Amino acid sequence: MKVVRTIQDMRQLQSELNAYRDMASLVGFVPTLGFLHEGHASLLRRAREECSLVVLSIFVNPLQFGAGEDFDKYPRDPKRDLRIAEKEGVDIVFMPEVSEMYPRPIQTAISVTGMTGLLCGASRPGHFDGVATVVSKLFNIVKPDRAYFGLKDAQQVAVIQKMVEDLNMDVTIVPCPTIREPDGLALSSRNVYLSPEERQEALVIQQALKEAEQLNGEGKAGLHELRDLVIKRISASPLADIDYVEVVSYPSFYTVDQLEKLEPGQLADSQILIAAAVRFGKTRLIDNCILPLRLRT
Ligand code: PAF
Repeated sequence: MKVVRTIQDMRQLQSELNAYRDMASLVGFVPTLGFLHEGHASLLRRAREECSLVVLSIFVNPLQFGAGEDFDKYPRDPKRDLRIAEKEGVDIVFMPEVSEMYPRPIQTAISVTGMTGLLCGASRPGHFDGVATVVSKLFNIVKPDRAYFGLKDAQQVAVIQKMVEDLNMDVTIVPCPTIREPDGLALSSRNVYLSPEERQEALVIQQALKEAEQLNGEGKAGLHELRDLVIKRISASPLADIDYVEVVSYPSFYTVDQLEKLEPGQLADSQILIAAAVRFGKTRLIDNCILPLRLRT
């Protein structure tokens, strides 16, 4: 496994990567903020199954953290990350410093409009510009054929897919399922911040989403009711402080109110995303489920 810290070294490796492409083999890429967990490992395994060469990036991207967010104290453990990467058969780890990625103040931003105005985009202004900008930089540096992203951040997946479509980027985005603890908590690097009580209470998010899934499956609730149910269920937890609970069509992100006004045939989406962001103490967790759209608003 090669560990590469500069863009120049990554570019030099491109001749090696091109040799793979000449053999019609695929270069798979898993971009991360590091502090790897089983969710990242599952992305690496999927990339390993589908591609001949697997590149992992570990970079805590300051551009996607707002003022007062946890950029400085975002958990980092590069040695452990490299052990996990080695175990998962990664070929190249790209691990640049901030000064390598942003040697001078950046004056260019990629901004996906519309869908970034709600959910995490509303709670964290500028976050998705930071994500889209760094991901497009990483795509330019690594030049992957396929890039793997977890659906725990389904909005991020949709934003990146739209960026790739709009800018004709030559990469296939592969959305991968959320990996959970046996009790249902979605894996996140931020779970380490939770106290034992908060960790226990945080299960309410997945339980609420499961109830909504069941109700949607039975066709018993409209979209407003699904949202209200999730809010009611999570609010019953004394430690939960809801940032948002939203129901939107997926992947276009029409809100429930917009969906009600659409004419039949105007909507290409056949799914809904029920997404929640909830604070437990100082830790903000996100989770979601993607369900078939039953238009009974
Ligand atoms: O999901 C993440 O880990 C980050 O947002 C990403 C895609 C690596 C961009 O920094």
